[in-house]
Amino acid sequence: MDRPYDFESIYQGPALVQYKQAVVPWDIGEPQPAVTALERAGEISTDVLDAGCGVGDNAVYLAGRGYRVTGFDYAATALRQAEQRADALGAEVEFVQAEATRLDNLAQKFATVLDSGLYHSLARQQRAHYAEALPKVCLPEARLHLLCFSDEAEDGFPDPHRISEAELRTTFTGAWRIDELHRDTYVTAFTREYLEKQAGGEQFPHLDTRALAFDGEGRLTRPIWRLTAVRL
Ligand SMILES: C[S@@+](CC[C@H](N)C(=O)[O-])C[C@H]1O[C@@H](n2cnc3c(N)ncnc32)[C@H](O)[C@@H]1O
Repeated sequence: MDRPYDFESIYQGPALVQYKQAVVPWDIGEPQPAVTALERAGEISTDVLDAGCGVGDNAVYLAGRGYRVTGFDYAATALRQAEQRADALGAEVEFVQAEATRLDNLAQKFATVLDSGLYHSLARQQRAHYAEALPKVCLPEARLHLLCFSDEAEDGFPDPHRISEAELRTTFTGAWRIDELHRDTYVTAFTREYLEKQAGGEQFPHLDTRALAFDGEGRLTRPIWRLTAVRL
């Protein structure tokens, strides 16, 4: 269904019940492996904007690797948790409340934008507005690294919005040049054990866990697109 989700409510708890979730699916308590791989590959440069930073593990990781990082999210509860995680690790990150479809309160321009799961969290119209707003906060030649759920998954898992390659190629044109578009994976907080218990129940009525992929720690992984685009 193409609708916006109420993330503030998910972080506070009630929407977890509404969406029949027992965990915040993207809160794995550490940076996404696809993000650490980008960093190791030399794909990050200062200043970094972590778009839709959530509870901040990617931003905190990058700050710990020596980058100047700003993370934004519209969910105040997520930002509070992110600040706590940064403080706990002695990481300096600026966390800002901002709406992705406007980005009008971000005065700075960035050399790297990381989008780990924001784009696929937005409804179609929001995605279009976000893509229009993003160039305004980018330096010329800035690199956008975007990780979003792919529409190629055929395992029946209920991802929020699945994005097609064609949509990405149409959206990131004009102000952007796409340099890379690859298949990758996004690690979730759902465990095999949890999903096996829930399969066939109210939360996942049609789930066949044998069709799903898990990482070495038994965490569900989802197929994503990893896009790198350069701001022209
Ligand atoms: C799937 S989570 C990903 C969080 C984090 N980047 C990660 O990889 O763990 C998507 C995040 O985008 C935020 N978000 C969703 N819609 C937004 C909007 N319109 N403006 C700003 N943030 C938004 C949510 O609050 C949530 O924290």
